[in-house]
Amino acid sequence: MIEIRTPRLLLRRWHDDDLAPMADIDADPRVMRWIDDGSVHDPEHTAKAIERWEEEWDEEGFGLFAVELLASGELAGCTGLSVPEFLPQALPAVAISWRFGPQFWGQGYASEAAHATLEFALQDRGLDRVISINQVGDVASENIARKLGMELELKAAHPVYGWPLRVHTIDLTEFQA
Ligand SMILES: CC(C)(COP(=O)(O)OP(=O)(O)OC[C@H]1O[C@@H](n2cnc3c(N)ncnc32)[C@H](O)[C@@H]1OP(=O)(O)O)[C@@H](O)C(=O)NCCC(=O)NCCS
Repeated sequence: MIEIRTPRLLLRRWHDDDLAPMADIDADPRVMRWIDDGSVHDPEHTAKAIERWEEEWDEEGFGLFAVELLASGELAGCTGLSVPEFLPQALPAVAISWRFGPQFWGQGYASEAAHATLEFALQDRGLDRVISINQVGDVASENIARKLGMELELKAAHPVYGWPLRVHTIDLTEFQA
C-alpha cells in the first residue's frame, strides 16, 4: 500500500468515503474554472474519475493520490501523476496535477503535496522527468510549478477546446528532495 506522509498531509489511495468530499470539490465552479471546459462535475462523474485513478494505480504504479489533512482526517483534494493522453504533442510524458477544495487554498497544502509527489516520482518510480500542463490564466497552478522548479517547455492549444496551454517540465535528476 503506497502512502506518503508530509509534515501536514497524508497522500494515499482512495477510500469509498472519499467520494462525498471529492464530489463536493468537483461541484464547485471555483475549483473547475481551469479544468477541461470549466464545467462542474456531478457525483457520478467524480465516482468514475476515482475508479479510473485507482485503475491507473494498479496498471501504471502511479496515479492521483487522495490528500488528507493529518490534523483532522479531512479530504482536502488530490495530487498525483498521470499520462496526459489528451495532449499528444507532450507525449511521452508523465504529468503532475493538483485540485483542492477552496477552504484548503492559500495554506501551502498543494505545494507540499506536489513536492512529495515529485519525490515519489523520482525515488519510487524512477522517473527522470515530470511535466505540468495548465491553461493560460491559471496563475495558481503556474505558481506551484514555478515553486517546484519547473520550467516552461512548450506552448500549445488544447486539442478539443482550443484554450492556450502551458507545459512546464522538471528534470528530476536535478530535483532538490
Ligand atoms: C491550483 C491550486 C491547487 C493551488 O492551491 P494553493 O493553495 O493556491 O497553492 P499552494 O499550496 O502553493 O499555496 C499557496 C499559498 O499558500 C500560502 N501559505 C500559507 N501557509 C503556508 C505554508 N505553511 N507553507 C507554504 N505556503 C503557505 C503561501 O502564501 C502560498 O502562496 P505563495 O506561493 O504565493 O507564497 C488551487 O487553486 C486549486 O485547487 N484550484 C482548482 C483546481 C485547478 O485548477 N487545478 C489545476 C488544473 S490541474
